[in-house]
Amino acid sequence: MSIKSKQRFAEMIRGKVFLAPMAGVADSVFRRICKRFGADIVVSEMVSAEAVNMGAVNTKELMRIDQAERPAGIQIFGAKPDSMARAAAFIAEHVRPDFIDINSGCPVPKVIRKNGGAALLREPELFRAIVGEVVKAAGDVPVTVKIRSGWNVNEWIDIDFAKMVEDAGAAALTLHPRSKTMMFSGHSFWDRIALVKQSISIPVIGNGDIVAPADGLKMLRETGCDAIMIGRGAYGNPWIFDQVKAVIAGKEPIAPSSIDRLRIAKEHLELSLAELGETQASREMKKHLAWYIHGMPGASVLRNDVFRAESCEKMIGLIERMFSVVA
Ligand SMILES: Cc1cc2nc3c(=O)[nH]c(=O)nc-3n(C[C@H](O)[C@H](O)[C@H](O)COP(=O)(O)O)c2cc1C
Repeated sequence: MSIKSKQRFAEMIRGKVFLAPMAGVADSVFRRICKRFGADIVVSEMVSAEAVNMGAVNTKELMRIDQAERPAGIQIFGAKPDSMARAAAFIAEHVRPDFIDINSGCPVPKVIRKNGGAALLREPELFRAIVGEVVKAAGDVPVTVKIRSGWNVNEWIDIDFAKMVEDAGAAALTLHPRSKTMMFSGHSFWDRIALVKQSISIPVIGNGDIVAPADGLKMLRETGCDAIMIGRGAYGNPWIFDQVKAVIAGKEPIAPSSIDRLRIAKEHLELSLAELGETQASREMKKHLAWYIHGMPGASVLRNDVFRAESCEKMIGLIERMFSVVA
């Protein structure tokens, strides 16, 4: 892609708050809800390049971008430069996302076993080839890369990998500064974001442990990163985006009431039911509902009832009853 397009992309993301890609959590419905409450840019759940190339049916759903989500990226993972490039070319032509993101941070065994995600952190040459080929194949669609800081704690490779990302022509880098071995434990090493930011000139999106309204400003100040990305802090809490942005703007963040939370929980469930159907929606929504009601009076009883509920209709009834409990 041209230098001008890269500059345009850098301008588009500067100071923005991203919703992190989260498999099994951040589907199109949740992404749209997060956008309503302030998420500026969203990323799809990770999609296997091999599955894209085989035309797998569930991949089509994973790559669906509603206009209300834009700007939105599609994230791909894989271990072969040619198949990653083919998938990127297909996505660039047929899905037309605002960017394509390469997953080089996922630590789950299913992905690591196939040498994808964070496994690439141990394969610098393969990583370089993948980013280079995907950038070429994506044409005018900007490519971003999401990495962890390394495989092992204190064996950080993030600066070297960030430089490879920049040299290969990518438009931005997202850094989640944990090691693969940490999975999601402990706290992310924000000082790594600052060091990486100082080492490259493409934008750096900082990610990791933004869970409270003041954390976004803190990360921006401490690391100098260009944009921030929120994952688990948005669990049952899409309001976090507006709250983080309020603090950045020097305003008081507004907390949702229990009624607000129940209202959005119900809407999330109804939208999921309409778009995913009964089986998938009831499977996906139980965890979301548990997150929405967390900390409310009577939440533990309701959570048990939700997990036992056999249908979305039953879950909707349970939430409706909860309105009178919290009113
Ligand atoms: C349930 C779950 C699913 C995730 N799925 C993905 C994924 O598909 N692609 C990816 O790059 N990262 C994935 N991540 C990592 C997040 O994008 C993010 O980097 C990580 O959670 C740290 O940010 P946080 O502290 O704000 O949650 C996932 C994390 C969680 C908790």
